[in-house]
Amino acid sequence: MKFSIETLNEIKDKISVSQVVEKTVQLKKRGKEFVGLSPFTKERTPSFTVNDEKQFYHCFSTNKHGDIFTFLVEVGGLSFPEAVEKLADEAGVQLRTFSPAEEEKFNKSKKLYEALEISKSFFSSQIFDNDNSLALKYLKNRGLSNDIINSYEIGYAPKGNKLEKFLISKGVSHEIMTLAGMTIKDENKKDNFYDRFRNRIIFPIRDIRNRVVGFGGRVINAEDQPKYLNSPETPVFHKGGLLYNFSKIRPNIKNNDNLIVVEGYMDVVSLASKGLHNSVAPLGTALTETQLNLLWKETDSPIICFDGDKAGKQASFRASEIALKLLKPNKTLRFINLPDNLDPDDYIKNNGLENFNKYIKNASPLTVMIWDSCLQESNIETPEGKAGFETLLRRKLNLISDKSIKKHYGLLFKEMLEKFFYSKKFDKKISKFDYNEKGSRKFNNPLKIKNSILGSGGQLPSDLEALVISGILIFPGLIKNHFEILESFQIENLRLRDIRDNLLVFIKKDYSELNIDLIKEFVQKNYQTFFEKDLRFANIFWQKKEGINFDQISEVWLEILKDDQHIKSLIKDIETSKDEIKNEEDERRFIDLIKNKDKAIKLITEKYG
Ligand code: UTP
Ligand code: MN
Repeated sequence: MKFSIETLNEIKDKISVSQVVEKTVQLKKRGKEFVGLSPFTKERTPSFTVNDEKQFYHCFSTNKHGDIFTFLVEVGGLSFPEAVEKLADEAGVQLRTFSPAEEEKFNKSKKLYEALEISKSFFSSQIFDNDNSLALKYLKNRGLSNDIINSYEIGYAPKGNKLEKFLISKGVSHEIMTLAGMTIKDENKKDNFYDRFRNRIIFPIRDIRNRVVGFGGRVINAEDQPKYLNSPETPVFHKGGLLYNFSKIRPNIKNNDNLIVVEGYMDVVSLASKGLHNSVAPLGTALTETQLNLLWKETDSPIICFDGDKAGKQASFRASEIALKLLKPNKTLRFINLPDNLDPDDYIKNNGLENFNKYIKNASPLTVMIWDSCLQESNIETPEGKAGFETLLRRKLNLISDKSIKKHYGLLFKEMLEKFFYSKKFDKKISKFDYNEKGSRKFNNPLKIKNSILGSGGQLPSDLEALVISGILIFPGLIKNHFEILESFQIENLRLRDIRDNLLVFIKKDYSELNIDLIKEFVQKNYQTFFEKDLRFANIFWQKKEGINFDQISEVWLEILKDDQHIKSLIKDIETSKDEIKNEEDERRFIDLIKNKDKAIKLITEKYG
């Protein structure tokens, strides 16, 4: 007897996993889960967990995983139909059997899963085959160990039609293998079928129930096209509803974990090989509503970390809009914008895991992402432009369907707008809150250099800091003359600080005389885009000085540094004294401090225009 998925789900919704398991295993509540001694092995410390919300159990000792039905099969010794009947009875659910058409569909799907599983094993076996050493060499070059290759079941699809022959030898029909997307019928020759994936590295894709449903295949030679080939849509493979690596991480993920959504298979695997196991990827398409809802079942605030290039940023924008539409209480998204067109894989290769972890820690909330994207499209120098900016924000607000969230977004943006446009009217009203610069750091920048916040990893470079760094990139001689000053220069902007730190390390590593060409090459290689795009306005400032003699350049540069530190110390004074306001006298002094700061900023703004 076959049962429809709907019926099975109906039963699962009525009977919790703990209810079923409890009859055999003593369970203790721990947070949202239950734990107990594994029924699959002898153990003293409990490694068996039950999650009612997610409707599964997982045994960490044996890696066994399943639901109420499989529990009765594996532990209770029932057959699957017996388990279903028993639980249906308990749940009071009427069992509905498949119609003949449904039954046929079910049987066909089963055959597809089998063919796909066999294909996966075939590809896996090929990766370590001596004849295919180039494939393995490719993976090794990309830094993947045998462990990772095995654990991610990365395989190789050889040239020719080897898979087709293998599947035939295993009794899989041409109809089934073609329906599974593994072979393509040659229209010119009767009964001729060829392999879809040839000479490609293979990433098996599993569905939420951990069944292999399709593959992604990457070329080995950079010249070959397309770079990635995926399984076509089949009765069991629907791109928009799947996430690469999802079923693998699902059993272990906790609500507060950083679940990272990257663009590519390679990013997922490469993060895993660096020890970051909680990442998934859509299958080369924009993030869909289904995928977002899947993610939200596991964590409240997944992190979108697409490639740092234009396409990646676009995809992040789209994800943010989908999120707005679907937002539910407590559910949100965070965003990482990697610099220099890099993807996570390349970023970590160039900058190390530690720096990547900083991005994770500082991922921007959805609110900031929305604000920034609207700001980028606006020219807020004029009242008309300000109104335009507000209109864009309102349009985004209108995407939110949850009433309560929409209200809170509205209130937050209103408050941000007031601070952003009119923050200089500080002395109008005094409350501690008004002076709290936290969260409004972006709006208090001394000088406004138009800049893409996205491009700088969610943090707008403080403009004087940008001038300092742009200066040394254009006149590397400054580094040589002011090495110590540069070394101890306090930089708040993470991205700029990174550049300075890397430059210093790079220069220290090379003990010989400072080689300016080498520095230029280093900068070119590592920071080209950031330099050209995000530092554009700062660069224009310096480029205007290119004819001037070096001593004068030095002088200007040192002055900027001094001005920057001056402003920072004023801001710091404000920070410390705002907590000490006790009476009117304090208040007056406090306002003076702010006025002083504003005056200094104004003067400096005029100076560097
Ligand atoms: P990328 O081109 O960014 O690939 O495409 P990648 O994952 O960084 O891989 P490497 O590092 O170059 O090897 C991201 C994703 O877009 C889909 C794939 O799912 C890929 O993982 N894609 C890309 C395609 O479907 N077809 C293509 O031709 C290219
Ligand atoms: Mn990529």
